[in-house]
Amino acid sequence: MCGIIGVVGLQDAAPRLVDGLKRLEYRGYDSAGIATLIGDGIDRRRAEGKLVNLANRLKEDPLPGTVGIGHTRWATHGVPTERNAHPHTDGRVAVVHNGIIENYATLRAELQAAGCEFRSDTDTETVVHLISHYWQNGVDPVAATHKALKRLEGAFALAIIFTGEHNLMIAARKGSPLAVGYGDGEMYIGSDALALSHLTNRLSYLEEGDWAVVRRDGVEFRTLGGDVVERAVHVSALSGAMIGKGEHRHYMAKEIFEQPQVIGDSLNALVNPSTRAVSLPDLPFDLATVRRVTIVACGTSYYAGLVAKYWLESVARVPVDIDVASEFRYREPVLEDGGLALFISQSGETADTLAALRYCKEHGQHVVSLVNVPESTMARESHAILQTLAGPEIGVASTKAFTTQLTVLACLTLAVARARGAISAAREAELSQALIEVPARAGEVLNHDERIRAIAEDVMLARDVLYLGRGASYPIALEGALKLKEISYIHAEGYAAGEMKHGPIALIDDSVPVVVIAPGDSLLDKTISNVQETVARGGRVIAFSDADGVERMKDSAVYSITLPAVDPFVAPILYAIPVQLLAYHVAVLKGTDVDQPRNLAKSVTVE
Ligand code: AGP
Repeated sequence: MCGIIGVVGLQDAAPRLVDGLKRLEYRGYDSAGIATLIGDGIDRRRAEGKLVNLANRLKEDPLPGTVGIGHTRWATHGVPTERNAHPHTDGRVAVVHNGIIENYATLRAELQAAGCEFRSDTDTETVVHLISHYWQNGVDPVAATHKALKRLEGAFALAIIFTGEHNLMIAARKGSPLAVGYGDGEMYIGSDALALSHLTNRLSYLEEGDWAVVRRDGVEFRTLGGDVVERAVHVSALSGAMIGKGEHRHYMAKEIFEQPQVIGDSLNALVNPSTRAVSLPDLPFDLATVRRVTIVACGTSYYAGLVAKYWLESVARVPVDIDVASEFRYREPVLEDGGLALFISQSGETADTLAALRYCKEHGQHVVSLVNVPESTMARESHAILQTLAGPEIGVASTKAFTTQLTVLACLTLAVARARGAISAAREAELSQALIEVPARAGEVLNHDERIRAIAEDVMLARDVLYLGRGASYPIALEGALKLKEISYIHAEGYAAGEMKHGPIALIDDSVPVVVIAPGDSLLDKTISNVQETVARGGRVIAFSDADGVERMKDSAVYSITLPAVDPFVAPILYAIPVQLLAYHVAVLKGTDVDQPRNLAKSVTVE
């Protein structure tokens, strides 16, 4: 999604804006630009493609000024060209925008009829002319902006500057997140804490419908109705130093190899290492009274929820409904009062998941979010949050967030099981112990990195790849397929292994690698049968299993990776790692943009 940064500062804005945009690159973008106030004018530099192109443009043609705004654009309206790159300006007002102005066509027609000249195909440009039009017709910039905001429909996060107004910047938020940062004698605006981490760690978050008048000595938050409101100041744990690839070539590689550490961090916050008892943060409701759980998420987070469904139903004996947020929010689901609605999101900003959260809140659910960003919108709008302690995840393809989501969901499962009397203390201790050992087991799995890279040299030649799994390994098959397709652009499908005979087996021939997720559980025999059916039709099987499974498939699998023998309860967490590594190495071999794959964004804040 688009990234926003703004500064009302005391030193040159351009380098600080570009530095902030670098921290937003992970969100995915296709062009970038900045604008600053210079004397009584506004000037801007924009460039298609990567930030380095903008930086080069600024080297050739520097931009002075201490007040400015910057933007990384993920195109919605208008192709990704310099002409459509933000900031947009009419010479009096400059605007950067994240979101979609749904009534832009009507506004554009009205403004063109009033003589405004449009120079881009974007919805954003209507905001520029609308504010400017009101400003020119007798109201000051703040009142002009307020008047314009009331006419905008859709989702937006905006940062706005005005010629001649060297101590003013306006921020506005409706649907897309935005924060105000506090400096010493200067102030900032940014899409998130990361964007401002080089400038400050003191932030306030605009709530839905807020707008903010930002000047060097502080900020005034207002509602769309015009009331002045207070917004808390948070201290972010992020620092500028946290962003870096270490010795790795890509953020994704760094984040894959961070998993033993961050899984351990997430566990330590929830499992007492001496008593091995799980203790969740205080919840404003009794888990024992929960009669049904509804899980809603998108993408990889949805697959984490699918694993949780298997766990919660088999271990805690509680019925679980699950759906992708984009379907859930529009199908008017029937919800019993007092149910637990669980939202899983790395960013805590995914528009569809947030909309589903609001639906559940309106329909009598206990709303809990499992997020990696505790200051996120979902976190702030939930009755309680569970946190993954994965640290900032920069790679667009989710890895450490996924395995820490699974880790926290496993702890939640044990807590719900205990509350419902569905598990003995001995079995809870066994499963907690299995969880406590996961970080060490994950380190062992990472030792297969070179072997998996060799397998990737084969897989990279494929046009289609199948991933198969049964039970709680089925969501890992789905996740493996998503990882491969989203960063290598090879078509891949995840399937329940038992479904092969109902169609997908028609796809099998010697050009189709079949990745099989086969931990040593009660379904292994059946999965091995599926492997044999696949091989009998020329399929080339890549088996991820434990030593026993690898031995039993040694005559069937073309390649195999032996994972540690673990309690089946924790197998999904470990088996996620080889499918991440496989996707990573295939993408590297194919030369795609591993950390920022084409067309993708890290946080989908528009529907
Ligand atoms: C995962 O690799 C993808 N980047 C994507 O599917 C992601 O999981 C999805 O957009 C949900 O994001 P969230 O967890 O921030 O809500």
